[in-house]
Amino acid sequence: MQDLQDIIVSDVSKGVLTITLNRPEAYNALRTNLLREMAEVLESATQNDDVKTVLITGGEKVFAAGADIKEMAALDAVGVMNDPRPTYWRRIAAFPKPMVAAVNGFCLGGGCELMMHCDIVIAGDNAQFGQPEINLGIIPGAGGTQRLVRTIGKSMAMQLVLSGEFISAAQARDFNLVSEVVIPERTIERARQLAEKIATKPPIAVRLAKEAILRSYETTLDSGLNLERKAFTMLAATEDRNEGIAAFMEKRKPNFTGK
Ligand code: CAA
Repeated sequence: MQDLQDIIVSDVSKGVLTITLNRPEAYNALRTNLLREMAEVLESATQNDDVKTVLITGGEKVFAAGADIKEMAALDAVGVMNDPRPTYWRRIAAFPKPMVAAVNGFCLGGGCELMMHCDIVIAGDNAQFGQPEINLGIIPGAGGTQRLVRTIGKSMAMQLVLSGEFISAAQARDFNLVSEVVIPERTIERARQLAEKIATKPPIAVRLAKEAILRSYETTLDSGLNLERKAFTMLAATEDRNEGIAAFMEKRKPNFTGK
């Protein structure tokens, strides 16, 4: 792995690659270099067959307090226009394998947006979620206005984005922004458990399921159903599908190979 400054990347264990945001002095603020490192690590994980799932966490205390405001302060409008960050966000969004987030503490602004790039979110009961950009005279810039509406609905999205108020982990669970809330000491462990479990599933089916679910955000029901049917048909040509069905018939555990 190349020299990384802003994230820690684990060895792959049980199919899971763990990325830990590592700027504790700035509440893991997502400076450009951090996003670049994350995009590059995810792209190399895409090519690595040993990586089945990715766990993203900020550690025990904080997930991320948003874009790095100090870095942002140096950019004028032209600087923002030429900013490479949107490209890094697109590269992160394009990661085709499941990403599970373990969120403790503040999950704000770009941090909340990074969390929404993940497919499953486990939150500690100390987590706080918000899009406080409005307090800086700006608006969310990495998908917050779009992904929030699709996840928690218009009224709550408006409340978060327009007021800058934070919501608790329990509220985030009520609004389906996260899937489970646990005590903070268990957040990473529970997220890892899920990531490891998904890593044992047939990788092609996992990948196509993720693609189909994400597509539902941006397509009509009819073309979504079409995509699902094509993926379903394609899976009938995989060895893993034969193995899964044979294992069921023979009352044994399947041995998936990703073929
Ligand atoms: N960028 C840069 N540094 C940050 C930061 C950020 N987003 N958030 C926190 N820090 C730094 C602080 O400057 C401080 O460092 P110094 O001691 O060197 O000054 C350190 O982290 C600790 O922060 P606080 O002293 O403020 O800690 P606190 O516990 O009193 O408050 C907080 C915590 C509520 C998270 C507060 O730090 C805060 O409001 N942070 C900014 C949150 C925010 O506005 N996020 C949105 C950013 S814009 C964005 O994300 C745009 C986008 O969509 C892409």
